Amino acid sequence: MELQGKNIVLGVTGGIAAYKAAELVRLLLGQGAAVQVAMTEAATHFVTPVTFQALSGKPVFTDQWDSRVANNMAHIDLSRTADALLVAPASADFLAKVAHGLADDLLTALVLARNCPLLVAPAMNRQMWDNPATARNLATLRGDGVSVLGPASGGQACGETGLGRMLEAEEIVAELIAFFQPKLLAGKRVLLTAGPTFEAVDPVRGITNLSSGKMGYAIARAAREAGADVTLVSGPVDLASPPGVERIRVSSALQMRDAVQQHVAHCDVFVAVAAVADYRPANPSPQKIKKGQQAKPPAIELVQNPDILAEVAALPNPPLCVGFAAESENLHEYAESKRRSKKIPLIVGNLIHHGFGGDDNTLTLFDDKGRHPLPPAPKLELARQIVARIAILLEKP
Ligand code: PMT
Repeated sequence: MELQGKNIVLGVTGGIAAYKAAELVRLLLGQGAAVQVAMTEAATHFVTPVTFQALSGKPVFTDQWDSRVANNMAHIDLSRTADALLVAPASADFLAKVAHGLADDLLTALVLARNCPLLVAPAMNRQMWDNPATARNLATLRGDGVSVLGPASGGQACGETGLGRMLEAEEIVAELIAFFQPKLLAGKRVLLTAGPTFEAVDPVRGITNLSSGKMGYAIARAAREAGADVTLVSGPVDLASPPGVERIRVSSALQMRDAVQQHVAHCDVFVAVAAVADYRPANPSPQKIKKGQQAKPPAIELVQNPDILAEVAALPNPPLCVGFAAESENLHEYAESKRRSKKIPLIVGNLIHHGFGGDDNTLTLFDDKGRHPLPPAPKLELARQIVARIAILLEKP
């Protein structure tokens, strides 16, 4: 329930993506928001107000002269209790009107008279998106403090392919949730590692571990929500990239180290969440190892992998480094000894049976001031607490 208590006015303009706005209402309600829908006349040609009324549980406003509002000023009243006005889909025509301060229907008048933030999710044909007039209007809107969500690139209802698709409803909800988070890392660059590594034994086998990537991806998302520019170096996991995060996919520890070294130069924070294999096979076989061709089962000789986090922490001008430690016992002692040996200011400890794979975790932070246990919680919630701690450390290291 990430939007519990939030009042959202959802504006719907005329475009085929209006059908996705119905799902958007459902998802917003699912996150605890109250949703009031206002539609342009053109939008009602794509989806009827009845659909939105049934989903939102509230009468829909389409007309500036709607007498249901006691003072007949729906364009003023609707935004006064709103935490945000979200317009999805936002057509090229609507964006042009708003950029120029026009107010010739309920929704544009509502936008002009609002006293809450405005977020728009553009949806239009790729040529309309590429048109310099649209680009100018978008620049004006951004300059006026409007948040522009997307658009995405891909197949369009008209049969063409390119930029201009509205973000999916889930992505818009994630952006809205991010919008409400405090911008504790605004202007900062954060580099993370997440997931397991895979160390090849032969072309089809390897050494890996049970990290799902969930903890690292949650921190990437939380850092992005907090306004940071985020690069996530990810081992092989089955997770979607968090919105707005640059993801670099790698497989082995050596590839992870290369990617980190390529991106570490300008970052302010490095968070190593990955469960990196400590060892890799010294001589991976280029061909599949066949059973029964040797007298004895083959022995796998291992060599040690570089310690990516320790290498970053030892740079002449290192970013703020945060490590993780997953232990099966003696969490305090082992985590603190890793923190000291890697010479990092903060390490996050978790017991193995809590950390790996699940959606929740139980964490303890270890820093120069001692240990700080956090109550068990979903990984995203814990990630936001870690981000808050990082923001404090950046202020007073
Ligand atoms: O992915 P999930 O399923 O959500 O699970 C999350 C997690 C349990 C994997 C995560 O919370 C976690 O604890 N990650 C660290 C696992 C661990 O115990 O790492 P380590 O003790 O091997 O390494 C300590 C630190 O050094 C870690 O920050 C690690 O990323 C880093 N390291 C380790 C070895 C190495 N060669 N390079 C490194 O950078």
